[in-house]
Amino acid sequence: MKVGGLFAGIGGIELGFKKAGFDISWANEIDKNASITYRHNHKHKLFEKDLKDLKTSEVSSIDILTGGFPCQAFSIAGQQKGFNDDRGNVFFEILRFIDDLKPKVVFLENVKNLLGHDKGQTFKRITNELENRGYIISYKILNSSEYGNVPQNRERIYIVAFKDKNIALNFSFPEVKKLNKKISDLIEAKVDEKFYYTNSRYYEQLKDEMKNKDSVYQWRRVYVRENKSKLCPTLTANMGTGGHNVPLIIDDIDIRKLTPRECARFQGYDETFIFPESLANSSLYKQIGNSVTVTVIEAIANEIKKACNL
Ligand SMILES: C[S@@+](CC[C@H](N)C(=O)[O-])C[C@H]1O[C@@H](n2cnc3c(N)ncnc32)[C@H](O)[C@@H]1O
Repeated sequence: MKVGGLFAGIGGIELGFKKAGFDISWANEIDKNASITYRHNHKHKLFEKDLKDLKTSEVSSIDILTGGFPCQAFSIAGQQKGFNDDRGNVFFEILRFIDDLKPKVVFLENVKNLLGHDKGQTFKRITNELENRGYIISYKILNSSEYGNVPQNRERIYIVAFKDKNIALNFSFPEVKKLNKKISDLIEAKVDEKFYYTNSRYYEQLKDEMKNKDSVYQWRRVYVRENKSKLCPTLTANMGTGGHNVPLIIDDIDIRKLTPRECARFQGYDETFIFPESLANSSLYKQIGNSVTVTVIEAIANEIKKACNL
Protein backbone atom coordinates (compact mmCIF):
# COMPACT_ATOMS: atom_id res chain seq x y z
CA MET A 1 0.00 0.00 0.00
CA LYS A 2 1.22 3.46 -0.89
CA VAL A 3 1.53 6.27 1.63
CA GLY A 4 1.52 10.06 1.18
CA GLY A 5 2.67 12.18 4.11
CA LEU A 6 1.52 15.70 4.99
CA PHE A 7 3.32 17.90 7.59
CA ALA A 8 6.22 15.49 7.23
CA GLY A 9 8.82 17.33 9.33
CA ILE A 10 11.85 15.03 9.35
CA GLY A 11 9.65 12.07 8.42
CA GLY A 12 9.07 10.17 11.68
CA ILE A 13 5.62 9.01 10.60
CA GLU A 14 6.85 8.05 7.15
CA LEU A 15 9.76 6.14 8.72
CA GLY A 16 7.44 4.22 11.07
CA PHE A 17 5.19 3.22 8.14
CA LYS A 18 8.22 2.27 6.05
CA LYS A 19 9.56 0.07 8.86
CA ALA A 20 6.17 -1.66 8.97
CA GLY A 21 6.54 -2.46 5.26
CA PHE A 22 4.56 0.29 3.53
CA ASP A 23 5.80 2.18 0.44
CA ILE A 24 6.08 5.91 0.89
CA SER A 25 5.27 7.69 -2.39
CA TRP A 26 5.69 11.35 -1.47
CA ALA A 27 5.57 13.86 1.37
CA ASN A 28 5.04 17.59 1.93
CA GLU A 29 6.81 19.95 4.32
CA ILE A 30 7.17 23.73 4.38
CA ASP A 31 10.21 24.17 6.62
CA LYS A 32 13.56 24.48 4.86
CA ASN A 33 15.72 22.89 7.56
CA ALA A 34 13.35 20.02 8.27
CA SER A 35 13.33 19.36 4.51
CA ILE A 36 17.14 19.15 4.50
CA THR A 37 17.04 16.45 7.19
CA TYR A 38 14.15 14.77 5.40
CA ARG A 39 16.06 14.50 2.14
CA HIS A 40 19.11 13.03 3.88
CA ASN A 41 16.98 10.14 5.10
CA HIS A 42 14.28 9.50 2.50
CA LYS A 43 14.57 8.86 -1.23
CA HIS A 44 10.97 9.55 -2.33
CA LYS A 45 9.69 12.90 -3.57
CA LEU A 46 9.40 15.69 -1.01
CA PHE A 47 7.29 18.69 -2.04
CA GLU A 48 8.89 21.51 -0.12
CA LYS A 49 6.21 24.19 0.04
CA ASP A 50 3.16 25.42 1.92
CA LEU A 51 0.50 22.71 1.77
CA LYS A 52 -1.94 25.42 0.68
CA ASP A 53 0.07 25.72 -2.53
CA LEU A 54 0.31 21.99 -3.22
CA LYS A 55 -2.24 20.88 -5.78
CA THR A 56 -3.59 17.36 -5.44
CA SER A 57 -2.98 16.96 -9.18
CA GLU A 58 0.77 17.27 -8.48
CA VAL A 59 0.94 14.13 -6.32
CA SER A 60 0.49 10.46 -7.24
CA SER A 61 -2.42 8.39 -5.96
CA ILE A 62 -2.05 6.77 -2.53
CA ASP A 63 -3.86 4.36 -0.22
CA ILE A 64 -2.92 5.95 3.09
CA LEU A 65 -2.71 9.65 3.92
CA THR A 66 -0.77 10.58 7.06
CA GLY A 67 -0.36 13.84 8.93
CA GLY A 68 0.93 14.94 12.32
CA PHE A 69 -0.58 18.37 11.76
CA PRO A 70 0.75 21.41 13.66
CA CYS A 71 -0.24 21.15 17.30
CA GLN A 72 0.55 24.65 18.58
CA ALA A 73 -3.00 25.77 17.87
CA PHE A 74 -4.33 23.08 20.20
CA SER A 75 -1.50 22.60 22.68
CA ILE A 76 -1.78 23.76 26.28
CA ALA A 77 1.53 25.57 25.85
CA GLY A 78 0.15 27.59 22.91
CA GLN A 79 -2.69 30.09 22.72
CA GLN A 80 -5.20 27.38 21.88
CA LYS A 81 -7.00 29.29 19.14
CA GLY A 82 -7.67 26.00 17.37
CA PHE A 83 -9.26 26.30 13.94
CA ASN A 84 -9.10 30.10 14.27
CA ASP A 85 -5.33 29.89 14.20
CA ASP A 86 -3.61 29.62 10.82
CA ARG A 87 -1.78 26.58 12.12
CA GLY A 88 -5.04 24.88 13.12
CA ASN A 89 -6.67 25.87 9.87
CA VAL A 90 -4.39 23.56 7.93
CA PHE A 91 -6.72 20.75 8.99
CA PHE A 92 -8.98 21.88 6.15
CA GLU A 93 -6.10 21.35 3.74
CA ILE A 94 -5.98 17.73 4.88
CA LEU A 95 -9.68 17.46 3.99
CA ARG A 96 -8.93 18.79 0.51
CA PHE A 97 -6.43 15.95 0.05
CA ILE A 98 -8.91 13.41 1.39
CA ASP A 99 -11.64 14.66 -0.95
CA ASP A 100 -9.41 14.53 -4.02
CA LEU A 101 -7.26 11.45 -3.33
CA LYS A 102 -9.86 9.34 -1.50
CA PRO A 103 -7.36 7.35 0.57
CA LYS A 104 -8.51 4.05 2.12
CA VAL A 105 -6.87 4.99 5.41
CA VAL A 106 -6.19 8.33 7.08
CA PHE A 107 -3.71 8.45 9.95
CA LEU A 108 -3.46 11.58 12.12
CA GLU A 109 -1.31 12.38 15.14
CA ASN A 110 -1.53 15.30 17.53
CA VAL A 111 -1.11 16.46 21.12
CA LYS A 112 -3.33 14.80 23.70
CA ASN A 113 -4.98 18.15 24.38
CA LEU A 114 -6.67 18.00 20.97
CA LEU A 115 -9.30 15.77 22.59
CA GLY A 116 -10.36 18.34 25.20
CA HIS A 117 -9.68 21.52 23.21
CA ASP A 118 -12.64 23.96 23.18
CA LYS A 119 -14.61 21.60 25.44
CA GLY A 120 -14.33 18.77 22.93
CA GLN A 121 -15.75 20.84 20.02
CA THR A 122 -12.53 20.77 18.00
CA PHE A 123 -12.22 17.01 18.16
CA LYS A 124 -15.89 16.59 17.36
CA ARG A 125 -15.47 18.74 14.27
CA ILE A 126 -12.50 16.65 13.13
CA THR A 127 -14.30 13.34 13.59
CA ASN A 128 -17.51 14.72 12.04
CA GLU A 129 -15.63 15.89 8.95
CA LEU A 130 -14.12 12.43 8.53
CA GLU A 131 -17.34 10.54 9.27
CA ASN A 132 -19.28 12.71 6.82
CA ARG A 133 -16.85 11.47 4.20
CA GLY A 134 -17.64 7.86 5.06
CA TYR A 135 -14.72 7.05 7.34
CA ILE A 136 -14.94 4.88 10.45
CA ILE A 137 -12.74 6.24 13.19
CA SER A 138 -10.63 4.76 15.97
CA TYR A 139 -8.56 6.93 18.26
CA LYS A 140 -6.44 6.47 21.34
CA ILE A 141 -3.96 8.33 23.50
CA LEU A 142 -0.74 6.33 23.69
CA ASN A 143 2.28 7.02 25.85
CA SER A 144 5.59 6.35 24.09
CA SER A 145 6.94 4.70 27.26
CA GLU A 146 4.16 2.10 27.09
CA TYR A 147 3.87 1.51 23.37
CA GLY A 148 7.24 2.39 21.86
CA ASN A 149 9.78 0.81 24.22
CA VAL A 150 11.47 4.14 24.86
CA PRO A 151 11.85 5.72 28.30
CA GLN A 152 10.09 8.95 27.29
CA ASN A 153 6.83 10.16 28.83
CA ARG A 154 5.03 11.34 25.69
CA GLU A 155 1.28 11.14 25.39
CA ARG A 156 -0.13 11.77 21.94
CA ILE A 157 -3.46 11.15 20.30
CA TYR A 158 -3.52 8.87 17.27
CA ILE A 159 -6.51 8.82 14.95
CA VAL A 160 -6.95 6.05 12.39
CA ALA A 161 -9.83 6.35 9.92
CA PHE A 162 -10.83 3.56 7.53
CA LYS A 163 -13.07 3.79 4.51
CA ASP A 164 -13.86 0.06 4.58
CA LYS A 165 -16.08 -1.07 7.45
CA ASN A 166 -14.66 -4.62 7.63
CA ILE A 167 -11.11 -3.37 7.81
CA ALA A 168 -12.14 -0.87 10.49
CA LEU A 169 -13.67 -3.71 12.53
CA ASN A 170 -10.44 -5.70 12.16
CA PHE A 171 -8.32 -2.88 13.53
CA SER A 172 -7.21 -2.42 17.10
CA PHE A 173 -4.47 -0.29 18.60
CA PRO A 174 -1.29 -2.14 19.64
CA GLU A 175 -0.93 -3.83 23.02
CA VAL A 176 1.26 -2.33 25.74
CA LYS A 177 4.88 -3.29 25.18
CA LYS A 178 7.32 -4.07 28.00
CA LEU A 179 9.76 -1.21 28.47
CA ASN A 180 13.22 -2.75 28.55
CA LYS A 181 15.29 0.35 27.85
CA LYS A 182 16.57 2.56 30.65
CA ILE A 183 17.57 6.20 30.40
CA SER A 184 21.22 5.18 30.83
CA ASP A 185 20.97 2.86 27.78
CA LEU A 186 20.41 5.91 25.57
CA ILE A 187 23.13 8.16 26.95
CA GLU A 188 26.36 8.70 25.02
CA ALA A 189 29.58 7.94 26.90
CA LYS A 190 31.46 10.97 25.64
CA VAL A 191 30.02 14.20 24.27
CA ASP A 192 31.39 17.55 23.19
CA GLU A 193 32.05 19.98 26.05
CA LYS A 194 29.61 22.51 24.55
CA PHE A 195 26.75 20.41 25.98
CA TYR A 196 27.94 20.95 29.57
CA TYR A 197 26.40 23.57 31.86
CA THR A 198 29.54 24.09 33.92
CA ASN A 199 29.70 27.78 32.99
CA SER A 200 25.98 28.45 33.12
CA ARG A 201 24.73 31.14 35.49
CA TYR A 202 22.31 28.55 36.82
CA TYR A 203 25.04 26.01 37.51
CA GLU A 204 25.00 26.31 41.34
CA GLN A 205 21.21 26.02 41.42
CA LEU A 206 21.30 23.01 39.14
CA LYS A 207 24.06 21.37 41.16
CA ASP A 208 21.94 21.72 44.30
CA GLU A 209 18.89 20.16 42.75
CA MET A 210 20.21 17.55 40.31
CA LYS A 211 21.43 14.54 42.26
CA ASN A 212 20.17 11.45 40.43
CA LYS A 213 22.24 10.04 37.62
CA ASP A 214 19.39 7.92 36.31
CA SER A 215 16.92 10.80 35.87
CA VAL A 216 16.33 13.25 33.06
CA TYR A 217 15.55 16.70 34.45
CA GLN A 218 13.88 19.51 32.55
CA TRP A 219 14.83 23.15 32.84
CA ARG A 220 11.61 25.20 33.15
CA ARG A 221 12.77 28.81 32.64
CA VAL A 222 13.81 29.41 36.29
CA TYR A 223 13.72 26.03 37.98
CA VAL A 224 14.54 22.44 37.25
CA ARG A 225 12.02 19.62 37.41
CA GLU A 226 12.86 15.97 37.91
CA ASN A 227 10.80 13.27 36.27
CA LYS A 228 10.63 10.83 39.15
CA SER A 229 9.27 7.92 37.13
CA LYS A 230 12.65 7.33 35.50
CA LEU A 231 11.39 8.57 32.17
CA CYS A 232 12.62 11.43 30.02
CA PRO A 233 10.00 14.23 30.10
CA THR A 234 8.17 14.94 26.83
CA LEU A 235 10.67 16.34 24.35
CA THR A 236 9.37 19.57 22.85
CA ALA A 237 10.12 21.73 19.83
CA ASN A 238 11.44 24.58 21.99
CA MET A 239 13.87 22.46 24.03
CA GLY A 240 16.88 23.74 22.12
CA THR A 241 16.11 27.43 22.33
CA GLY A 242 15.44 30.08 24.94
CA GLY A 243 16.43 27.92 27.89
CA HIS A 244 12.98 26.35 28.27
CA ASN A 245 12.17 22.63 28.46
CA VAL A 246 15.84 21.75 28.02
CA PRO A 247 16.36 18.09 28.99
CA LEU A 248 19.26 17.89 31.45
CA ILE A 249 21.22 15.02 32.99
CA ILE A 250 24.11 14.64 35.36
CA ASP A 251 26.70 12.28 33.90
CA ASP A 252 30.10 11.07 35.18
CA ILE A 253 31.62 14.44 34.31
CA ASP A 254 29.02 17.09 35.12
CA ILE A 255 25.61 18.56 34.33
CA ARG A 256 24.76 18.74 30.66
CA LYS A 257 21.90 18.79 28.23
CA LEU A 258 20.96 15.79 26.13
CA THR A 259 22.54 15.85 22.69
CA PRO A 260 20.33 15.84 19.58
CA ARG A 261 21.35 12.22 18.97
CA GLU A 262 20.27 11.23 22.48
CA CYS A 263 16.95 13.06 22.02
CA ALA A 264 16.44 11.16 18.76
CA ARG A 265 17.01 7.87 20.62
CA PHE A 266 14.30 8.86 23.11
CA GLN A 267 12.05 9.29 20.05
CA GLY A 268 12.79 5.77 18.84
CA TYR A 269 15.13 6.78 16.00
CA ASP A 270 17.97 4.34 15.40
CA GLU A 271 21.59 5.19 14.68
CA THR A 272 21.16 5.01 10.91
CA PHE A 273 19.11 8.22 10.93
CA ILE A 274 21.23 11.06 9.60
CA PHE A 275 21.36 14.54 11.11
CA PRO A 276 22.99 16.83 8.52
CA GLU A 277 26.14 18.49 9.81
CA SER A 278 25.18 21.70 8.04
CA LEU A 279 22.30 22.26 10.49
CA ALA A 280 22.71 24.00 13.86
CA ASN A 281 21.89 21.96 16.97
CA SER A 282 19.06 24.40 17.80
CA SER A 283 17.42 23.39 14.55
CA LEU A 284 17.90 19.67 15.24
CA TYR A 285 16.39 19.92 18.75
CA LYS A 286 13.35 21.62 17.22
CA GLN A 287 12.99 18.97 14.54
CA ILE A 288 13.23 16.09 17.01
CA GLY A 289 10.86 17.71 19.53
CA ASN A 290 8.35 18.32 16.73
CA SER A 291 8.62 14.75 15.53
CA VAL A 292 7.02 11.51 16.72
CA THR A 293 8.19 8.36 18.45
CA VAL A 294 9.00 6.23 15.42
CA THR A 295 8.54 2.93 17.30
CA VAL A 296 4.99 3.91 18.32
CA ILE A 297 4.13 4.77 14.71
CA GLU A 298 5.63 1.48 13.53
CA ALA A 299 3.51 -0.44 16.08
CA ILE A 300 0.30 1.27 14.89
CA ALA A 301 1.26 0.87 11.22
CA ASN A 302 1.74 -2.87 11.85
CA GLU A 303 -1.80 -3.05 13.23
CA ILE A 304 -3.12 -1.21 10.16
CA LYS A 305 -1.31 -3.77 8.02
CA LYS A 306 -2.87 -6.65 9.94
CA ALA A 307 -6.35 -5.11 9.69
CA CYS A 308 -5.92 -4.80 5.91
CA ASN A 309 -4.77 -8.44 5.74
CA LEU A 310 -1.46 -7.48 4.19
C1 LIG B 1 4.14 18.60 14.47
S1 LIG B 1 5.22 18.79 13.13
C2 LIG B 1 5.17 17.19 12.41
C3 LIG B 1 6.49 16.50 12.45
C4 LIG B 1 6.57 15.14 11.77
N1 LIG B 1 5.50 14.25 12.13
C5 LIG B 1 7.93 14.50 12.03
O1 LIG B 1 7.98 13.32 12.30
O2 LIG B 1 8.94 15.19 11.98
C6 LIG B 1 4.30 19.77 12.00
C7 LIG B 1 5.04 20.08 10.71
O3 LIG B 1 4.14 20.74 9.83
C8 LIG B 1 4.88 21.70 9.09
N2 LIG B 1 3.92 22.67 8.57
C9 LIG B 1 3.22 23.62 9.27
N3 LIG B 1 2.42 24.33 8.46
C10 LIG B 1 2.62 23.83 7.21
C11 LIG B 1 2.06 24.16 5.95
N4 LIG B 1 1.17 25.15 5.82
N5 LIG B 1 2.46 23.45 4.88
C12 LIG B 1 3.37 22.44 4.99
N6 LIG B 1 3.93 22.08 6.17
C13 LIG B 1 3.56 22.77 7.27
C14 LIG B 1 5.85 22.27 10.11
O4 LIG B 1 6.95 22.89 9.49
C15 LIG B 1 6.22 21.03 10.92
O5 LIG B 1 7.38 20.42 10.42
